[in-house]
Amino acid sequence: MKVAVLGFGTVGVGVYEMLKSADGLEAGPVLVRAGKDDAPFKVTSMEKIAQDPSVDAVAEVMGGVEPAFTYACCALKAGKHFVTSNKALVAAKGPELAKLAAENGVGFLFSAACGGGVPFLHNMALAVQSDEIVSVGGILNGTTNYMLDNMQSSGLSYADALSDAQKLGYAEADPTADVTGLDALRKIMLACAVAFNALPTEGLLNEGIDSFSADDVAYLRSVGLTCRLIASGGKNEDGSVYAYVEPVVFPGSAAECSVLKNFNMARYNGKNSGRIVMIGQGAGRWPTASAVLRDLSDISCGRRVMMKPSCSVVSANNASCCHSYLVRLPAGEKLDLPIESCEARGNACYVRTGNVSVKQMHEKAAELRQAGVQVFFAAIGE
Ligand SMILES: NC(=O)c1ccc[n+]([C@@H]2O[C@H](COP(=O)([O-])OP(=O)(O)OC[C@H]3O[C@@H](n4cnc5c(N)ncnc54)[C@H](OP(=O)(O)O)[C@@H]3O)[C@@H](O)[C@H]2O)c1
Repeated sequence: MKVAVLGFGTVGVGVYEMLKSADGLEAGPVLVRAGKDDAPFKVTSMEKIAQDPSVDAVAEVMGGVEPAFTYACCALKAGKHFVTSNKALVAAKGPELAKLAAENGVGFLFSAACGGGVPFLHNMALAVQSDEIVSVGGILNGTTNYMLDNMQSSGLSYADALSDAQKLGYAEADPTADVTGLDALRKIMLACAVAFNALPTEGLLNEGIDSFSADDVAYLRSVGLTCRLIASGGKNEDGSVYAYVEPVVFPGSAAECSVLKNFNMARYNGKNSGRIVMIGQGAGRWPTASAVLRDLSDISCGRRVMMKPSCSVVSANNASCCHSYLVRLPAGEKLDLPIESCEARGNACYVRTGNVSVKQMHEKAAELRQAGVQVFFAAIGE
C-alpha cells in the first residue's frame, strides 16, 4: 500500500522514515508548503496526490483543522484511505470524515491522535465489537505528567517544570492546550466517540494544572498524596455521556503514581473484560509515527473503522458524576459546598469536601476565580 504523507515535521519525518522499511507499506509523496519542495519526493499540491492512482492511502500529520479537513475530504472522495494523528481535526470533524470514508468504501483511523504510541483507540475499537465499554480515561497528556512528576519528585516550581518540559520538546512553545487540560479533553472526546459511538462536543469540563503550586506539592507530600491530570469519560445511568478533565490526588499505592515522566496511562473498563490499562509513550516522533503505521497496517489487513459513520454529536452530562474534592483556598475564604474537614497551612487552607458533582465543583471554582480568589482543586482518587 503506497502512502502519501501530509506534513514533514516531527511526526511526518518519523512516518516517512518508518514507511521506507515497513512490511506491506511504501512511502509515497510528501506534501510540504510551497517553496519547501527541496527533494524529489516532496510535492506542494494536494490535488496531485488525490489524482495519483499509485497512492492508496494518505497519512495527515500537519495539525490544525484547516486545511487538514479540506485535504482529508479530497483524499477520501478520491478513494484513498485516510489516517491522522491530528486530534483537533478529529474532535472537530470526525463524524463527517467517518461518513465520507464509509460512502467511499475506504478506511479512516486516528489511533495516534489519542495516546501517541499507546494502542489505546486501536484496542478499544476492537473491544467494542464484542464488549460494552463502560468507562474510558487515564493520563492522556505527557507534558503535564512530566511537569507534575518533576514538581513532586525534584521539587521544581511550576515555571521551572514548564521550562524543562519545553527544553526537552515535550511542551509546545505555546503550552496553553496542555496545561489547561484542553489537549487531554480533545483526547477523551475521541475516546468517547470510539467507545460509545457518541462524540461529546458541548458541556465538557476541563481543569488543568496551571493553578498547581510548589506549596500544593509540599502539602500533598505531607499527607501522602500524589497529583495526576486525569481525563474521564463514560456512560451515565440514563445513557448520556460524561467527559471531563481534572487533577486527581492519589495515595502512593495507586497505579497512577507509578506513571512517571512524559508517559501516558490509558484505560478502559469493559462490562465483561473489566479494567484494561495500557502504559507507554504518549508523544514524540517515533512512538506517534509507530501508531500511524499501525493504523496503516490495520487498513491493509481490512480493519477500517474506528469511529462509526453513525457516531452522533452529543452534549456531555457531568452533573451525575460525584467525587470528594481537595480544594486549596486563601485562609479565611468560605467554600459553599459540603465540607468534611479543613486544614490550615500558612496563608492557605486545604478543604476536603463531601460528595460533590463534577459540574458543581468546576462551576464553584470558576465562580471563585471570577471574584479574584485563587483556587486549586483536585478530585480525591482511590
Ligand atoms: N509531536 C508529537 O509528539 C505528537 C503526538 C501525537 C499527535 N501529534 C499530532 O500530530 C500532528 C503533527 O504534529 P508535529 O508535532 O509533527 O507538528 P510539527 O512538527 O509542527 O509538524 C507539522 C508539519 O506540517 C507542516 N504543515 C502544516 N500545515 C501545512 C500545510 N498547509 N501544507 C503543508 N505542510 C504543512 C508544517 O510545516 P511548517 O513547518 O512549514 O509550518 C510542519 O512541517 C499534530 O496534529 C499533533 O497534534 C503530535
